[in-house]
Amino acid sequence: MKTLQQIHKEQACDYCEHEGRELIHVDCASHVYPDGSVGIHEMCFRVLEKEIVALCGPNGSGKSTLLEHLNGLLRPSSGNVIVMGKKLDLSHIDIWRDVGIVFQKSDDQLFAPTVLDDVMFGPINMGMSIEQARMLALDALTTVGAVKLSDKMPGYLSGGQKRLVCIAGVLAMKPKAIAMDEPTSDLDPLHAEMVENIILNLKNEHGLSIVIATHDMDMAARIADRVCIVKDGSIIVEGKPSSIFYDKELLEKSGLRQPKVIQIYERISKNLDRVKDKNPLTIDELVKTIELVTAAG
Ligand SMILES: Nc1ncnc2c1ncn2[C@@H]1O[C@H](COP(=O)(O)OP(=O)(O)OP(=O)(O)O)[C@@H](O)[C@H]1O
Ligand SMILES: [Mg+2]
Repeated sequence: MKTLQQIHKEQACDYCEHEGRELIHVDCASHVYPDGSVGIHEMCFRVLEKEIVALCGPNGSGKSTLLEHLNGLLRPSSGNVIVMGKKLDLSHIDIWRDVGIVFQKSDDQLFAPTVLDDVMFGPINMGMSIEQARMLALDALTTVGAVKLSDKMPGYLSGGQKRLVCIAGVLAMKPKAIAMDEPTSDLDPLHAEMVENIILNLKNEHGLSIVIATHDMDMAARIADRVCIVKDGSIIVEGKPSSIFYDKELLEKSGLRQPKVIQIYERISKNLDRVKDKNPLTIDELVKTIELVTAAG
């Protein structure tokens, strides 16, 4: 695990090619809102191909502001945002094609008379024919398990169904990366699990990179390849879930708590050498660890 200061020293935060696998590079970007509020401050952030990155941080730390920079909805007041090697400026205003955003409030995203129309909107807007757009939309709705909702009015869907349709709407545009703001908030456990599986599927089967801003530490522990802790508009530390989420002091200083699985593990593993350093992140891994304890009597 490295602090951002160390990373900056090593890499100087420039946006030269980065092993050819870098999709997004936020290069020391700051954003000051018109009322003077600081949304992000000298933020440095990278997304590589085919990875799930979780942004974890307390309310108001800048997660949503960062996400909105990834597809040009917001422009940095200073610094740069580079997507697929293209710097976001007036000559590259179409990065929304490469990075899709699923908003926290689904109602901000849905507006068409039917679900199918809504999901077709993106591809049509990209210049595709109605038939092509229809095929992409049906494909995307199938991927999220919502094709049976095609003819419904978006306004009549449940919150969980709306979230699935929003993901399909972004997916239909065939982005390289998808940013999701609180993808499981307000969902029942079943829909939260569906969304979590969709995120994994988008990475594993479709080769996409997914950035999630989330307060759900347990989900981040289960699915993230990399966790970035956001505080006061910057990423203060990043690393693998197995190191970030086991650093209780860091999390508490950042206003966060350890995932439940880790809280339980830390209580049962205290003074038990045989389960030291197992560092489970999922319920299955925790159960295996408990079995080790019980098997040994
Ligand atoms: N449109 C806006 N105008 C002014 N200030 C804003 C605006 N949007 C966000 N901010 C401010 O920017 C800072 C970062 O907000 P942001 O919404 O990015 O945080 P967040 O980490 O997503 O929080 P949460 O976990 O509550 O969603 C906060 O201080 C917030 O008040
Ligand atoms: Mg937010």
